[in-house]
Amino acid sequence: MDTEFRIAADGVDPEKVPRRVLRTGDRMPAIGLGTFGSDRYSADEIAAAVFGAAEVGYRAFDCGACYMNEAQVGESLERIQKGGVRREDLFITSKVWNDKHKYGDVIESCKKSLRDLRLDFLDLYLVHWPFPNYHPPGCAEDYHNPDARPYIHGEYMETWSAMERLVELGLVRNIGTSNMTIPKMKRVLRDAKIKPACNEMELHPCFQQPEFFDFCVKNGIQPIGFCPIGSPKRPDRDKTPDDAVDIEQPAIQKIARAHGVHPAVICVKWAAQRGQIPIPFSVHRKNYLANLRAVTEDPLTDEEMAAVRAADRNCRLIKGQVFCWKVGQDWRDLWDPNGEITPW
Ligand SMILES: NC(=O)c1ccc[n+]([C@@H]2O[C@H](COP(=O)([O-])OP(=O)(O)OC[C@H]3O[C@@H](n4cnc5c(N)ncnc54)[C@H](OP(=O)(O)O)[C@@H]3O)[C@@H](O)[C@H]2O)c1
Repeated sequence: MDTEFRIAADGVDPEKVPRRVLRTGDRMPAIGLGTFGSDRYSADEIAAAVFGAAEVGYRAFDCGACYMNEAQVGESLERIQKGGVRREDLFITSKVWNDKHKYGDVIESCKKSLRDLRLDFLDLYLVHWPFPNYHPPGCAEDYHNPDARPYIHGEYMETWSAMERLVELGLVRNIGTSNMTIPKMKRVLRDAKIKPACNEMELHPCFQQPEFFDFCVKNGIQPIGFCPIGSPKRPDRDKTPDDAVDIEQPAIQKIARAHGVHPAVICVKWAAQRGQIPIPFSVHRKNYLANLRAVTEDPLTDEEMAAVRAADRNCRLIKGQVFCWKVGQDWRDLWDPNGEITPW
């Protein structure tokens, strides 16, 4: 990839993409590009998508150390800036992986992501999962780490205090959580010196998490929605026969026909209009451009928003079963179904 960065004639003016104001006053674009390739796309393909997406007007990119492509994405970010996009107009997120939750490891992991991404600071740094349990990349669905532990609040707060230190060091502008629940978040809000600016959570029409969404908004935490299209190409280990398929829901398909777009685009429109920041993934220009346009043109009507709201199936796709701390445990335990942190 050695082409010159060029603003695409058919792209979207980044100034026209709404921005959400975070508790620090920073303004995050209302849509970002996901960069997890679900084990299907190479790091170079994803880096090329980041470059192409910036040319069509994306300014936010959702990265993560465990996506194993930050070095390649970093090359694209450098070339995008050399091509004239100012650093302050970009919004770059990364995440600390589960085997790096110790205080010193968090700091080192962030510095590594910064080196890989070729940046001086991150706009947002997230704790990827609230469990310190390592599992190998691409492991089988029934993989169990014998050292696996549940959420232990004291340990999480050690991780969080390293996140706070990163802010003090000027390496990170905003810090946030991911894959949390209300009971866990209440504890973090109680004990954090710097409260989370964002929570990255699974959000799509068939999994709307209305209670947690409202909790975040009420507490000044901006929800970022992952798998906004229902992740139709997620790894097979994350699929079960009962999973709902968002883009096949009759309500979504009907609205898509009315707007003359793919049902995926309706998922993105709904997400942005509801107020979460969707981070859809695609390496295909046609698709990532359609998703960006979705947030700037042809909004859904109130009736259509209500029809999508009614499509909720409470169907979690990324169940996190590899984080179970007991053999044969129900993955629902990870999500605190009884309204309190599931005990050991
Ligand atoms: N914090 C976390 O724990 C966490 C967990 C999961 C994901 N994430 C983040 O969220 C991002 C998005 O999640 P995801 O990739 O799993 O799922 P997703 O964005 O819901 O779905 C992506 C798939 O939808 C298809 N698609 C995208 N736009 C389309 C369009 N306009 N028309 C038709 N098809 C379209 C793509 O197919 P094609 O490939 O054919 O274009 C792509 O494979 C990830 O990349 C990652 O950055 C975070």
